[in-house]
Amino acid sequence: MKTEIINENNKNVVKEAVKFITQNELVAIPTETVYGLGGNGLSDEACKKIFEAKNRPSDNPLILHISEVEELDRLVEQVPEKVKRALDYYWPGPLTIILKKSDIIPHTVTCGGDTVAIRMPNKEITRRIIRQSKVPIAAPSANLSGRPSPTTALDVYEDMQGKIPLIVDGGACNVGIESTVLDCTCEPNLILRPGFYSKEDLEIYFGPVEYDKSILKEGEIPKSPGQKYKHYAPSGSMEVILGNRYRVRDFFNQRARELKDKKTALITFEDNSDLANSFYKFYSLGSRDNLLEMASLIFRILRQCDDDGIENILCEGVEEKNLGIGIMNRLKKSCGGNVKII
Ligand code: TXA
Ligand code: MG
Repeated sequence: MKTEIINENNKNVVKEAVKFITQNELVAIPTETVYGLGGNGLSDEACKKIFEAKNRPSDNPLILHISEVEELDRLVEQVPEKVKRALDYYWPGPLTIILKKSDIIPHTVTCGGDTVAIRMPNKEITRRIIRQSKVPIAAPSANLSGRPSPTTALDVYEDMQGKIPLIVDGGACNVGIESTVLDCTCEPNLILRPGFYSKEDLEIYFGPVEYDKSILKEGEIPKSPGQKYKHYAPSGSMEVILGNRYRVRDFFNQRARELKDKKTALITFEDNSDLANSFYKFYSLGSRDNLLEMASLIFRILRQCDDDGIENILCEGVEEKNLGIGIMNRLKKSCGGNVKII
């Protein structure tokens, strides 16, 4: 199959995308978080294609993407008043909610479970595609399972070339890590996957919210299926270093000497850019004071490491608070738990 990339400003973009979605074919769509691999969310046939194209484990349910809050009503059993009010504030945006599903949701979306994950992305072109398709669009991140999520159309092309007919190019994703997943079927509501919105952000409108135990503590079994898999992993071996920035810097210098004959990449903040000469590759995470910038860059950098044939990756970690919790959640998975606190 030939894979076409179409720019979001092309006048035919919505028509082309809608054509494939209504034929139960797959279209990669941009969102503010990462690119999604989209298919008709009410069709078992389309959803099965999503699992095949990604090589996704069959027990990991999909998120349905909608364009209007009103669409929620036919997809779930009931929307609690509190949730309705809160969504007014957080949607469109990087928040996915879990509610009890209605009867029209295909088995393939929920993997047989009785709940469904739903979000309204903050990307105009994608909401137009959803609206004109007249169905919710099921979309996991558009990477092959296990690889870092795609944040550009070319990242998607790398993984999905020949497997899907169309990629909508909406530029680089500005959030860069996936949505926060909030389980609204229990009280207090539970964050199953940390993301752009932190517990503190969500508590403003949802009231008390907790993190699933597995997010902040090793060894607990996650409540969300997707959280238990090795994920986001580059091909090279990876170490995440966390601690006082000056000690971390000393450690990087020491590692530079030990690994000097290897293809080693250093991923750290721009204030360490003078260390670039000591490594095969240097990738900047931007300013230490701007975690949003780090989030938007991290998956792109990890994929770049693969393109550059990197054997060893040293990456500076961040304190686990607010957005730092979401970033560290991704980094811990990328490095398979190989985090060094110094
Ligand atoms: O930002 C995002 O959420 C992106 C963009 C494309 O919207 N999508 C995304 O999808 O990250 P995916 O499939 O890579 O991650 C979905 C996560 C998985 O961890 C999955 O296990 C969880 O949501 N999930 C989906 N349905 C669920 C359910 N009913 N109960 C618990 N967890 C669920
Ligand atoms: Mg994913």
